[in-house]
Amino acid sequence: MLDVKGIDVTYGRAKVLHDVSLQLNQGEMVFIVGRNGAGKTTLLRTISGLMKPSKGSIAYNGEDTHGLSSAKLAQKGVRYVAQDKRVFSHLTVRDNIELAAYAAGEDMSTAIQRVTSIYPKLNDLMDNKAGGLSGGEREILLIGRALVGNPRLFLIDEPTEGLAAIVMEDIFRILSQMKENNVSAVIVEQNLSTVNRLADRVYIMKEGKIIREISEKSEMADTKELESHL
Ligand SMILES: Nc1ncnc2c1ncn2[C@@H]1O[C@H](COP(=O)(O)OP(=O)(O)OP(=O)(O)O)[C@@H](O)[C@H]1O
Ligand SMILES: [Mg+2]
Repeated sequence: MLDVKGIDVTYGRAKVLHDVSLQLNQGEMVFIVGRNGAGKTTLLRTISGLMKPSKGSIAYNGEDTHGLSSAKLAQKGVRYVAQDKRVFSHLTVRDNIELAAYAAGEDMSTAIQRVTSIYPKLNDLMDNKAGGLSGGEREILLIGRALVGNPRLFLIDEPTEGLAAIVMEDIFRILSQMKENNVSAVIVEQNLSTVNRLADRVYIMKEGKIIREISEKSEMADTKELESHL
């Protein structure tokens, strides 16, 4: 479904990704771990079409994405949930969902159903301003919005960052529900307990490179190895 081959990505003159390759098969949930500044966000932004590699290629469902904008990729079912947890804070939760429904060409009742199916408590918050939501609720709204339009590939950047442990468990439950529904996702995550329980594979990034891929469950369960890269 996704084949990233040997990409370099630069900000101005600074090269931040070096020869990065990553594959995702249909129905896989793959995690990226690595220290601050390793290039994880840059990789997700590049897959989503917001940045273009200066070298290498990205194929999505067999199609080279080089000429495709992020909007075009979104139309083709790619959903990027950014690290900053930014919602339309002056709009209500319902209006935030409506914008996603409009963009995806989906009717509002289906959209609301998709969003509330992952977190029924959002039903009670529909008329609240999104800016007043807690960090966890905002992230849930963003993941819910990403589900609108029945997308095919999720790119989620640090969904549990900055959240209290109990809220992390809510996010974990939502991600495991998505996994049960066989979604395909590349997720950046520093919380190794989430990674261990959900990952089909783990990529470790360091200084703009993928330095290791772990596909053995036993190795994933050994958090010491992973921790040494955080
Ligand atoms: N807009 C930008 N302009 C220039 N350099 C940038 C920009 N954004 C990120 N960088 C640099 O690119 C490198 C990779 O950053 P990136 O945000 O991809 O890392 P990350 O692994 O997501 O880090 P974090 O864990 O802090 O989210 C860093 O050295 C960072 O300083
Ligand atoms: Mg980041």
